[in-house]
Amino acid sequence: MAEKKTDEKEKKEEKKEEKIKKEDKKEDSKKEEKKIKSVAELPGVGEKTAEKLKDAGYDNLMAVAAASPKELSEVAEIGEQTAAKIIIAARDALEMGYETALDVFAKRERIGRITTGSKALDGILGGGIETGAVTEFHGAFGSSKSQVAHQLAVNVQLPKERGGLGGACLFIDTEGTFRPERIRQMAEALSLNPEEVLKNVYVARAYNSDHQCLLVDKANEMIREKNIKLIVIDSVTALFRSEYSGRGELASRQQKLNKHLHSLQRLADVYNVAVYITNQVMARPDILFGDPTAPVGGHILGHFSTYRVYVRKSKGETRIARIIDSPNLPESECVFRVTPRGIEDVEEKEK
Ligand SMILES: Nc1ncnc2c1ncn2[C@@H]1O[C@H](COP(=O)(O)OP(=O)(O)O)[C@@H](O)[C@H]1O
Ligand SMILES: [Mg+2]
Repeated sequence: MAEKKTDEKEKKEEKKEEKIKKEDKKEDSKKEEKKIKSVAELPGVGEKTAEKLKDAGYDNLMAVAAASPKELSEVAEIGEQTAAKIIIAARDALEMGYETALDVFAKRERIGRITTGSKALDGILGGGIETGAVTEFHGAFGSSKSQVAHQLAVNVQLPKERGGLGGACLFIDTEGTFRPERIRQMAEALSLNPEEVLKNVYVARAYNSDHQCLLVDKANEMIREKNIKLIVIDSVTALFRSEYSGRGELASRQQKLNKHLHSLQRLADVYNVAVYITNQVMARPDILFGDPTAPVGGHILGHFSTYRVYVRKSKGETRIARIIDSPNLPESECVFRVTPRGIEDVEEKEK
């Protein structure tokens, strides 16, 4: 008896749901009719403003939606309040909340990949470092995070057939470990013109965390003008860690880091560039339970990086990389090596 009742109840629920769905559909088709499709159609955007926005590269709704009122008011020479309204309108028009799996699939179709130089490492990353995503390498000092950064800065310039994207690199160096000589060495190993390769790596030394954030917030123009396809931040956490050391400051540090990572994710998304960040972890042998090598800046970083790789030193030139909690890749490990030529696979007999 009890079962029959629940059956009936379920049927009623289903009917209710269908009714709601139908009503939703009606709403949707209404929205469809007045849908805004270009920046010029946004309320508050006159002809002149549209022109200025276009000149500054805000030529599509996504770029406007992802902008801040301040930057928009500067480029379009309008008030910040007007700018804010335009941004909200762009966001509404885009219906930023949900998209169909088909849309997501289409987006994933335009994803580009940059080879790391090692087929094994590319393999665990699903074919290399992805555009539209943030990839984080964390590991102890000397585990080769910066070597991978240099290699990617070179490899992004390779043509597609060779595993690159024919683009340039924006390299934010926070620890003073960027070495043009190493870029030259790696370029030569790939028979590329070293001068040309060096010209396509735009380096900025960040002196404090505010400067680091600013370099990212102001990157839009560079990305468009210089055909940037890769953004490197080596390391993303070092300055934050040294500036905010007290216990009481942890929350504000995390908040600021959070915002910074958001900006990075947004750049990756809007401009379809790859973002590679490094995060140094301390070996913490004092920890008996859990993973002793868990990143100090911890789990908020984990939440943002689409791909997280843990690298550690092995014998001599060899390094071990393990991919962790990726949304679409199995947790797996591989071995690669760092040689004078750069990042390479380990030869069969060495394995
Ligand atoms: N020119 C080079 N030739 C060969 N190996 C190098 C070269 N430069 C650096 N390495 C290797 O890379 C290691 C440093 O890796 P690095 O990327 O700086 O580590 P981190 O993870 O601290 O950024 C060195 O210990 C060395 O093994
Ligand atoms: Mg380093």
